[in-house]
Amino acid sequence: MNINQRPRRNRKSEAMRSMVRENHLEARHLIAPLFVIEGENKREEISSMPGQYRLSIDLLLKECEELVKLGVPCVSLFPALSDDLKDKYATESANPEGLFPRAIRAVKERFPELLVMSDVAMDPYSSDGHDGLVSDSGEILNDETLPILAKMAVTQAQAGSDIIGPSDMMDSRVSYIIEALDKHGLTQTSIMSYTAKYASCFYGPFRDALDSAPKSGDKKTYQMDPANVEEAMREARLDTEEGADILMVKPGLPYLDVVRALKQSSELPIAVYNISGEYAMIKAASEKGWLDGEAAMMEVLLSFRRAGADMILTYFAKEAAQVLSRS
Ligand code: PBG
Repeated sequence: MNINQRPRRNRKSEAMRSMVRENHLEARHLIAPLFVIEGENKREEISSMPGQYRLSIDLLLKECEELVKLGVPCVSLFPALSDDLKDKYATESANPEGLFPRAIRAVKERFPELLVMSDVAMDPYSSDGHDGLVSDSGEILNDETLPILAKMAVTQAQAGSDIIGPSDMMDSRVSYIIEALDKHGLTQTSIMSYTAKYASCFYGPFRDALDSAPKSGDKKTYQMDPANVEEAMREARLDTEEGADILMVKPGLPYLDVVRALKQSSELPIAVYNISGEYAMIKAASEKGWLDGEAAMMEVLLSFRRAGADMILTYFAKEAAQVLSRS
């Protein structure tokens, strides 16, 4: 036997493995999505997302404090509104005194250094449970939705949001939102566009969290077909031309190839959203004793970095940052 190539030499000890390690996960790569509700001292566990809660603003601040201590640089907030505040036009999304702007202001006042990202789409405020305006015949109206999104974005930015995250998938929304922000002098508000957002079944637990599932139809006329990757490149080109600062791929695990493709072709930083259903799968398997939940979490998060993601939105943010702070 004459073996000259012995790749195992580079794996012979932890010191050697650590010296040749190609990719790294650090707390600074993580963005924590958090759900906020009205009230005080309120903490409602989301049944399909064990360990994740709808938090009243006071408890949201406590959660932010822990994340800041752990070195997580950014939170992405979502409002869980009661049904009586939802209507066809998502009117509540432009209320500067609404729950969401109050939550953004509270976090920014208390933790000015923590980046706050806010989601722009109609679904948390819509009685139809869609991201856009629904016509009488059930069509999702693109151009009529844009002014609603723009108002929502301006309301959030005026409340102090650092990063606007349009998750609605309407055409041209990035440029439309940026124009509206500029008109209000909000030229420093960043845009992390949900560029390649697929019509996925993995959003289920998130829709439980916000009670935001579509009342009729599905989201396939605006979210992307899971079969497509070239189309993601087109969306990326358009978002880039429209002025987005960061491009996002969502979901994460089933779309690692899309993360890689965008990373290789774009000059912009790439984010990936490790979504609710991906979180739920690991939690469920771990609760059943079928997987080592912590190891699975770390392996999955590292896979996003290997695929090329610069940052990761993940419900595991706090847990992963805790693991990283131990090592
Ligand atoms: C909707 C929105 C969704 C998520 C973030 N923003 C769900 C959807 O499109 O129905 C999902 C996030 C997750 O599943 O964790 N604008």
